[in-house]
Amino acid sequence: MEIIIRPSPEECASIGGRIIANLIKGKPDAVLGLATGSTPMPLYCELARMHEDEGLSFSEITTFNLDEYIGLSGDHPCSYQYFMNKELFSRIDIRADSTHIPNGEADDIESECLGYEQAIRSSGGIDLQVLGIGSDGHIGFNEPGSSLASRTRIKTLTGKTIEDNARFFDNLNQVPRHCITMGVGTIMDSVSLILYAFGERKADIISKAVEGPVSAMVPASILQLHPRVRVIVDEAAASKLTNIDYYKEVYVNKPDWQE
Ligand code: PGA
Repeated sequence: MEIIIRPSPEECASIGGRIIANLIKGKPDAVLGLATGSTPMPLYCELARMHEDEGLSFSEITTFNLDEYIGLSGDHPCSYQYFMNKELFSRIDIRADSTHIPNGEADDIESECLGYEQAIRSSGGIDLQVLGIGSDGHIGFNEPGSSLASRTRIKTLTGKTIEDNARFFDNLNQVPRHCITMGVGTIMDSVSLILYAFGERKADIISKAVEGPVSAMVPASILQLHPRVRVIVDEAAASKLTNIDYYKEVYVNKPDWQE
């Protein structure tokens, strides 16, 4: 794991923007895995800026989002489809039919999940997956106890996640209890990953995910077994890491060729 600690979410976003721009430069038809929530928003602002100011094109890119609430239509303001259209897709030149988000209104959830896995495989697989982390350690909506080999499927949200996400809804009772999420195994198939976390609220779980034991009770800890993961965090989210000075030293002394 490469742990990158920067003073602000904006600086973290600019590193992610550069990584994605480099990926697209080498592979204009790359496949990106995308996340929702407040964490990836600075990255999406940066990608929109790079599109606007630097001509970064997403015209051949394919995307797959991690998850969607069950029961919300794509035009519901709290659906992840709505979020992605607003925060990213409408601000760049991506083709709408190249973007994928699980259909939370599918009649047959099981075949929706199988179809989603199949679509990822048919695209050639995800080159770079962007992740946030839940305060309970979830990636996607893989809550504690999820199989570390799981594939796209229905999950029940924990009380903690419902509480955390209630801020996006009018009240707690409106938060859907179920979702479709890529599995931990699906996420681990990605060629490379960026895990973002910002703020003191994430400091505990970042220390468990990065420096604690690999455990299904902290699904993000499985990333320790992936060969190409960057954990990009601000100072507040990094504040409970034991090896913080070492991570900073590694970053500052990184040979140019390694970028
Ligand atoms: P947040 O959520 O970005 O809104 O903190 C992260 C997550 O639940 O994965």
